Amino acid sequence: MLLDGNRIVLGTCYYPEHWPESMWREDLARMLANGIEVIRIAEFAWNKTEPEEGVFTYDFFDSFLDLCEEAGMKVIFCTPTATPPAWLTHKYPEALNCDLSGVPYRHGLRRHYNYNSPIYRSLSARITQKLAEHYAQRPCIIGWQLDNEFNCEVNVFYSEADSAAFRVFLKDKYQTLEKLNAAWGTAFWNQDYTDWAQVYVPRQTVGGRSNPHQELDYLRFISHSARSFAKLQSDILRPYLKPGDFITTNGLFGHLDNHAMTAESLDFLTYDSYPNFAYCMDTDHSDPTALYDRKWSRNLSETRAASPHFGIMEQQSGANGWINRMEAPTPRPGQMTLWTMQSIAHGADFVSYFRWRTCTMGTEIYWHGILDYSSRDNRRLRELKQIHAMTEKLAPVAGAAFKAEVAILRDYDNVWDAELDVWHGRVEEASQKALFAAAQRTHTPVDFVYADHASLEQLAKYKVIFCPHATIMTPACADMLTQYAERGGTVVFGCRTAYKNATGQCVMDRLPGLIAPLTGADIPEYSFIAPDAGRVTIDWDGTELEAAVFADLVEPVDGVREAVYTSDYYAGSGALVSKAVGKGRAYYYGTAFTEEAARVFMEKLGVASPWADVMELPESCELAVREKDGQAYAFVLNYKKDCAKVVVKRECADVLNGGTVCGEVVVPGYGVMVIKA
Ligand code: GAL
Repeated sequence: MLLDGNRIVLGTCYYPEHWPESMWREDLARMLANGIEVIRIAEFAWNKTEPEEGVFTYDFFDSFLDLCEEAGMKVIFCTPTATPPAWLTHKYPEALNCDLSGVPYRHGLRRHYNYNSPIYRSLSARITQKLAEHYAQRPCIIGWQLDNEFNCEVNVFYSEADSAAFRVFLKDKYQTLEKLNAAWGTAFWNQDYTDWAQVYVPRQTVGGRSNPHQELDYLRFISHSARSFAKLQSDILRPYLKPGDFITTNGLFGHLDNHAMTAESLDFLTYDSYPNFAYCMDTDHSDPTALYDRKWSRNLSETRAASPHFGIMEQQSGANGWINRMEAPTPRPGQMTLWTMQSIAHGADFVSYFRWRTCTMGTEIYWHGILDYSSRDNRRLRELKQIHAMTEKLAPVAGAAFKAEVAILRDYDNVWDAELDVWHGRVEEASQKALFAAAQRTHTPVDFVYADHASLEQLAKYKVIFCPHATIMTPACADMLTQYAERGGTVVFGCRTAYKNATGQCVMDRLPGLIAPLTGADIPEYSFIAPDAGRVTIDWDGTELEAAVFADLVEPVDGVREAVYTSDYYAGSGALVSKAVGKGRAYYYGTAFTEEAARVFMEKLGVASPWADVMELPESCELAVREKDGQAYAFVLNYKKDCAKVVVKRECADVLNGGTVCGEVVVPGYGVMVIKA
């Protein structure tokens, strides 16, 4: 019934262990009366089933699930491995994760374990098995969540078990130390290894950082470890599932190949969407160009990339706040609705709110749920009821795919390399921000596509693919993009593409290395833009653009020079080269994208504002489109508290209000319009 393509379903996160049993029945009845059909439970409650090592008791959740069945509430049950019990970490401190210096993280918060501890893996496997054996056949259970937010809180691991597992990972990858030494470039600074026992996860060094090629392998290893821990659990659970029940996990965190994890272990991914973070991370709210909560659409698009059908396991419903950090205000009237619709517009067919009632104890007493501590009826509960009425009207949208003609190409190696390498990181950050903002403000829906998981068929769906700064280029990726262009696609590369191989070492080919034949370009010189260079400008057929962060001077070999630098010592050198390839074209742009440059590319390449014939939208509104059976549903989301005026240029059905709309339509502050066109 979840993600079945027929309905949008609402849920909430509930913690029976936080409330007296006398409250459970009424809570369930009240949820159901307000449109909540599914609850997620038990992700932090290991002790309720195994209070002592090897002692199993099922009464607590049996009593609770009895009530769920009596009430007609459906349940997502979780494995409890995000919070190891005190008895476990006290007896087996080797299960703890450690900081870079090898000092263990102690009991008292959560996610303090490491994925590779043999004892933790075996105790996790056993609790998963026990839960599956006892609960999986309960009629109220519809699916399972693995752990909670893999790689949240901390996404680096330095325990002894991690070093041991890293050695196994590396032996499997390289077979011999000679190959490892070559891949890590250990000839530099006398780092050669002569025995596997000398190899560790990165450790404290002078300067704090280790060999960069080792670090790149280490991030791959963390992803591998998290995936293997997820698979350990899903392999145990899977045979116990009732037909139709699913396995998922929640969140989207660093150092984890979510595509691979989803393919190996999950039926779909769920995301935890807290757009209110925009108001605690971005303390200076005076920047008129900032996208604030609208930026969360980027995370939703990333979730969709890994799992085309997905849900939201935790959707913001109240103010944020841990006892010591992350303060953000209560969502204003309408924002809970707006953020729910943002999730649905981007492809979520299940939205579950965090949490039913605000906790009265512990670290998250300010992380508000739908209800406050007192449980009294409140504004957010009333808003939930209205949202439920809206989701019923949106039933036809369930199962619809997100529709975009533009994709931003990424891959995990480059995401991780950009984190490790400042030259890479700065161009990547600038361009990702610019491309997303330009797409948002020109109302151009975009998808993220991961080259390491995509097929040529998937790429071929897009008219234009931006591949901003894949500094690491593989022959397979260069080949796929060449075929994509030959078939009629347009691919746009930014500066610094293809100067590294998969080990993260620089290639000695003429740049841009593996994509030189595709782009027809040659880069005789490159530089960070010097701090004293001022505004470095580019002329593209009379349109002035500004170079950002880096300048590759790019000249055509068998391509065409499209634009030139017009300032500093770069003046007169090429800034943009293109080459016709089969039915398509490849561009090499010698710098990072500014928002303006991204907009100009989208406009010149004819993919900006694909809905301009149907609607004229103010910049403050986002456009997101889902399509099913040839029917498009366009969501217009207004992130501002003031009304937005939209001009609908032909009569379209109004999905939420019934009837049709045409001409000037006012979308209220934080309001949403969904039209069929
Ligand atoms: C999520 C997490 C929840 C809760 C929430 C608020 O990241 O999954 O358990 O902690 O944040 O902090």
